[in-house]
Amino acid sequence: MVSEVNLSKNVCVIGAGPSGLVAARELRKEGHSVVVLEQKHDVGGQWLYDPNVEEEDPLGKNKFLEVHSSIYESLRIVSPREIMGYTDFPFLVKKGRDMRRFPGHKELWLYLKDFTDHFGLREMIRFNTRVEYVGMLDYEEFGNGLKWVVKSKEKKHEKMVEEVFDAVVVATGHYSHPRLPAIKGMSTWKRKQMHSHVYRVPEPFRDEVVVIVGNSMSGQDISMELVAVAKEVHLSTKSIDNISVGLSNVISKHNNLYLHAQIDFLEEEGRVIFVDGSWVDADTILYCTGYSYTFPFLDTKGIVDVDDDRVGPLYEHTFPPTLAPSLSFIGIPRKLIGFPFFESQAKWMAQLLSGKRSLPPRDEMMQWIKDFYKSRDAAGIPKHNTHDIANFEYCDRYGDHVGFPHLEEWRKQLCLSALVNADANLETYRDSWDDDELLQEALKSPHFTQLGV
Ligand SMILES: Cc1cc2nc3c(=O)[nH]c(=O)nc-3n(C[C@H](O)[C@H](O)[C@H](O)COP(=O)(O)OP(=O)(O)OC[C@H]3O[C@@H](n4cnc5c(N)ncnc54)[C@H](O)[C@@H]3O)c2cc1C
Ligand SMILES: NC(=O)c1ccc[n+]([C@@H]2O[C@H](COP(=O)([O-])OP(=O)(O)OC[C@H]3O[C@@H](n4cnc5c(N)ncnc54)[C@H](OP(=O)(O)O)[C@@H]3O)[C@@H](O)[C@H]2O)c1
Repeated sequence: MVSEVNLSKNVCVIGAGPSGLVAARELRKEGHSVVVLEQKHDVGGQWLYDPNVEEEDPLGKNKFLEVHSSIYESLRIVSPREIMGYTDFPFLVKKGRDMRRFPGHKELWLYLKDFTDHFGLREMIRFNTRVEYVGMLDYEEFGNGLKWVVKSKEKKHEKMVEEVFDAVVVATGHYSHPRLPAIKGMSTWKRKQMHSHVYRVPEPFRDEVVVIVGNSMSGQDISMELVAVAKEVHLSTKSIDNISVGLSNVISKHNNLYLHAQIDFLEEEGRVIFVDGSWVDADTILYCTGYSYTFPFLDTKGIVDVDDDRVGPLYEHTFPPTLAPSLSFIGIPRKLIGFPFFESQAKWMAQLLSGKRSLPPRDEMMQWIKDFYKSRDAAGIPKHNTHDIANFEYCDRYGDHVGFPHLEEWRKQLCLSALVNADANLETYRDSWDDDELLQEALKSPHFTQLGV
């Protein structure tokens, strides 16, 4: 529903990554007063590369992590740059910078800095400020002018600062806290164990026998990098009979890369035993087993919970029905074209806060959530993949809530062609492709010419 009301709210956005930046931009556009609290010294979130991981627990088990970014030095983006940009700020090729179609991580960070400066967002951000507590000011009153207490600590200052806001937007990302498997013998294994969260460069693994657990993006990328320096790389996957053509080609090309089934158990002195009974004597186990949603600062009196990586209850992965719109989450969904989706979430949230739009009644939102869970369960999707969307139509339907434009056809097609290419040509898809015709057509679209550069 749309109305003419325009109420200005005092809003705290937590995080200055791709989600928090666009949230701040949309909130200000809507007339709200905005403070962004960011624990790091600059914008960019995951894309603010951090080579210093020595202080971090190698398995990332602490409640608050020292390191936020899990990006490693050689990382290049996984989808072509042209599909990544926010709707009004294309990710253009710039002379003197990394001009590749799938550039390295620094180029995406520079894009986010450009976005920040272009829209003058920096003045809203308080850097080096970590949020340690968010809770309701007066729990009894909730639903009725609900306000939020936010406690934060600036680096180098011991004192906690306490502030009160009309609304809080959580945009803290979810690719930092390791999701670790429970493998028998993990706690007593005597050699090196770490998670991809702290992997940066291959050199420390020179001449080692490394077991990599998890055969998704991180596991494959890091395996391909380690074969050049390690003595042996053993990649352990849940589905040994179901690997891509691309990965299968990579394995047959390298005589020190081996594919294995899941690990059964670990023997204290160094052996890793797989479920088929085979084993290796390993120096290091590198868990590339993904990440978990955690909000260590958030106290909603149990209203919002994380259960096996299902964050809920959240209407449309964004709004907790009983606390929205004064509490919202931007950036929860995975496996979609991120930046424009975050933008659509941000617009909806900002317009709900100003009273321009309204959410459906609470019971309808709760029913949506129940139906969504039911459909995921019926499709056999594990709970921990609740927020994996992989559906362009969902993004379009989501955008309809706030009149946000549907994904352009070229964005969808270029995304799909990169996925197909990666599946078949895992080692080369970032440098060689066959969708040039589609790309040239796309580059003529208003998205790329709107800034007139
Ligand atoms: C290895 C890796 C590779 C990836 N590759 C791609 C890719 O190629 N393409 C792609 O689209 N996506 C990729 N992603 C996903 C990536 O996370 C998103 O692109 C994007 O960064 C998500 O933005 P976000 O703002 O939601 O979260 P983040 O980028 O994680 O930003 C969250 C921000 O919140 C801050 N924060 C967290 N907690 C607090 C707190 N308590 N107080 C204050 N500040 C806080 C953090 O410091 C950070 O700045 C990758 C992720 C990883 C880990
Ligand atoms: N730009 C890039 O080049 C790049 C590189 C790396 C990562 N990324 C991005 O970063 C995000 C995280 O990727 P990720 O690869 O780190 O995590 P991920 O996509 O969550 O994958 C983790 C994998 O580990 C598997 N796994 C879990 N426990 C296991 C076990 N005991 N044995 C074997 N396998 C196990 C999981 O299987 P189940 O799901 O069945 O549990 C899953 O396949 C993604 O968005 C990805 O696109 C991008």
